[in-house]
Amino acid sequence: MLSEKDFIAKPLSPSIENGSFQWSAPSNIALVKYWGKKNKQIPANPSISFTLNNCKTITKLSFIKKNSSITIGATIEKFSFDLLFEGKPKEDFKPKIQKFFERIEKYCPYLIDYHFIIDTQNTFPHSSGIASSASGMAALSMNIMSLEKALNPEMNEDFFNQKASFLARLGSGSACRSVKGNVVVWGKHDEIVNSSDLFGVTFPSNIHPNFNNYQDTILLVDKGEKQVSSTVGHDLMHNHPFAEQRFAQAHQNLSCIKTVLETGNLDEFIKIVESEALTLHAMMMTSLPYFILMKPNTLEIINKIWKFRNETTIPVCFTLDAGANVHVLYPENVRDTVLQFITTELVGYCQNGNYICDSIGTGAIKNL
Ligand code: DP6
Repeated sequence: MLSEKDFIAKPLSPSIENGSFQWSAPSNIALVKYWGKKNKQIPANPSISFTLNNCKTITKLSFIKKNSSITIGATIEKFSFDLLFEGKPKEDFKPKIQKFFERIEKYCPYLIDYHFIIDTQNTFPHSSGIASSASGMAALSMNIMSLEKALNPEMNEDFFNQKASFLARLGSGSACRSVKGNVVVWGKHDEIVNSSDLFGVTFPSNIHPNFNNYQDTILLVDKGEKQVSSTVGHDLMHNHPFAEQRFAQAHQNLSCIKTVLETGNLDEFIKIVESEALTLHAMMMTSLPYFILMKPNTLEIINKIWKFRNETTIPVCFTLDAGANVHVLYPENVRDTVLQFITTELVGYCQNGNYICDSIGTGAIKNL
């Protein structure tokens, strides 16, 4: 079992002058939610997610040794990088990357030897309200690990992936679940072998075929900026009146969903997943300050899903992130019927009728 110290890279000489890598990493949707954290991005409770397939960030990392004869700009900063979003400079993304580099410097000391150009884009619209922090931090972390591997070719694949997840966690907690698929657990849990607070691990048992190619249609209810960031929301779990019960409940729900994923019990799956979504929002509504991220159309959609499920017994359910959008989850064998229901009854509640069809996926992919 790896501990924090195992991720501190030994001094590596910057033996490579320049180069580039490109990785794409997907978003993920939590079934048991991460909400609340301790110092240094340690989760207050374990979480489990489906890795997605289509909602991805594609990031190219180009690097050149700083003391190279080629001029790379006048400023002498500890971390030297340019940030491009869809090929154009994007200054407002830089502070987040700067903070990320500061957090991971201890583990990746070679970062200060290079100037980087980080060129990133998403497969989903930027203003869709879909957080790109999970896919973005995962894609960047994979690239950084490609550089580390180039400097230290003996590294094995397991270590590569675990450290990538470890680094991604330091960028954004949920990002550590975007390195691998199809189902990932992050956070120490008694019944999940090798689970860790430091990185995500692939769900260790066989997953029932009911979940093969499970569908997630994301209904874009509100694309505006969130009033409260996830980071602030996590902080509000400190001194939250229901925090301890909530963290205990997450452990129990993870135990239950483990059995559900093994046995394929979709009725139980629905109960846990919807309860988790509503509990997440209940935590927001009962913190101080309190806030509501659901919109009227979020509730309209939830009610329509419940009605449809009652009338048809089709095992379709919803989950929510820290926002107003609704993830509609259902098995592949009911896809046509559910998509028909979504397009006729739910799309009207989406902003500009926008939604994204996604499904469970396998994790980050190296493109270059
Ligand atoms: C509601 O991973 O975005 O999506 O660690 O502060 O970057 P930071 O938070 P973030 O929190 C996501 C919370 C959630 C639930 C989940 O994905 O488990």
